[in-house]
Amino acid sequence: MKFPHAFLAFALGAVLAAGPARAVDLSMVSGDTGVGQKVLREILDQYEKKTGNKVTVVPMPPSTTDQFGQYRLWLAAGNSDIDVYQTDVIWAPQLASQLVDLTEATKDVVGAHFPQIIQSQTVDGKLVALPIFTDAPALYYRKDLLDKYGVKLPATWAELADTAKLVMDKERAAGNKDIWGFVFQGNAYEGLTCDALEWVMSNGGGQIVEPDGTISINNPKAAAALEMARGWVGTISPPGVLAYQEEESRGVWQTGNAVFMRNWPYAYSLGESEGSPIKGKFDVTTLPPGSGEGARPAATLGGWNLAVSKYSKNPDAAIELVKWIASPEMQKYRALNASYLPTIQALYDDADIARKQPVIPRWKEVFLNAVPRPSAQAKVRYNEVSSQFWTAVHKTISGEGTAADNLADLEVSLTKLKGAAW
Ligand code: GLC
Repeated sequence: MKFPHAFLAFALGAVLAAGPARAVDLSMVSGDTGVGQKVLREILDQYEKKTGNKVTVVPMPPSTTDQFGQYRLWLAAGNSDIDVYQTDVIWAPQLASQLVDLTEATKDVVGAHFPQIIQSQTVDGKLVALPIFTDAPALYYRKDLLDKYGVKLPATWAELADTAKLVMDKERAAGNKDIWGFVFQGNAYEGLTCDALEWVMSNGGGQIVEPDGTISINNPKAAAALEMARGWVGTISPPGVLAYQEEESRGVWQTGNAVFMRNWPYAYSLGESEGSPIKGKFDVTTLPPGSGEGARPAATLGGWNLAVSKYSKNPDAAIELVKWIASPEMQKYRALNASYLPTIQALYDDADIARKQPVIPRWKEVFLNAVPRPSAQAKVRYNEVSSQFWTAVHKTISGEGTAADNLADLEVSLTKLKGAAW
């Protein structure tokens, strides 16, 4: 439809006469780790200055599992106090019915993002969350210690365990009593699902539930992968690893007490920050493959998004806020200051990012090839699938029952959960 000039001039005049829109108070929840909360606040300060609106951040526990439990309760109760939720990449199908469809409002910006990430947040044709960063893990290693003992980067998980043991033993003998070989996320929560999916997949043991919906987890290669991890606990990994989430692993690593660490890219900028004991002493590489037929390196795909609650009293302002935080400028800010991987394609060719956070352009291929967790297959049952998986894994690595028995039980309970179809 074409409007006459006179009408446009009138409409514009009416908008201007109304003055700036009334300032709005918004609130969002975020459980970001590391410097994530601080960088988010800086981004919001810029937004407040520009718009006159106010944004309160309700901080959440860092565990995505705890956040999910809380968000589900709030949304089920129709809570209108929270306008914007920071959502994990796996949650879209489970929360979709309570989130605003962003398709129309974001059609001017979605094209700048990687299409597969937008796809992961699209449920039944509706875009339920706009991505703000993606995630794929790295194997962090102490360059200085590998050089000191003349050892190479491990080519398989088995070699990683051998190298970790060798360096740890020599360092301890040299008086470095607190050092461990390898830290990861062994707590019973979503993070363990990520780590264990990597062990299983990289050993040729499949991806728990395959893309066609088949439950594949009860197989000898998956069991062997979990037995391997059980062997690490108390030998190359501290017994406490069974309670570690991302930040506990980073705590041990960043104080200089681990040779290797599995973690997400956020730990890179923190390790390199002023005053960090390991600054200049480490690098990252990809996680290794298992051994034998079907072995291949595997990284679990992570990432975070922003969604607008259906119960928000200010959905339009909330959508504008989401677009601001997800914008190329703010993703660049987050990348430069916290080494988060952008979801905007062009930022992988950005010279400032490449200079300040060289891990980011290096990690483009890693996240593009990362393995998704089976949330698209399991749909609204994903959290239960994952919690049954991490429970079986946690039992195994804690020495309760064999991997083969625990995976056989898991298959039975997942089959029951699935019913006739996911
Ligand atoms: C990271 C990932 C997220 C994952 C979580 C597990 O935050 O981005 O996708 O679920 O770790 O702890």
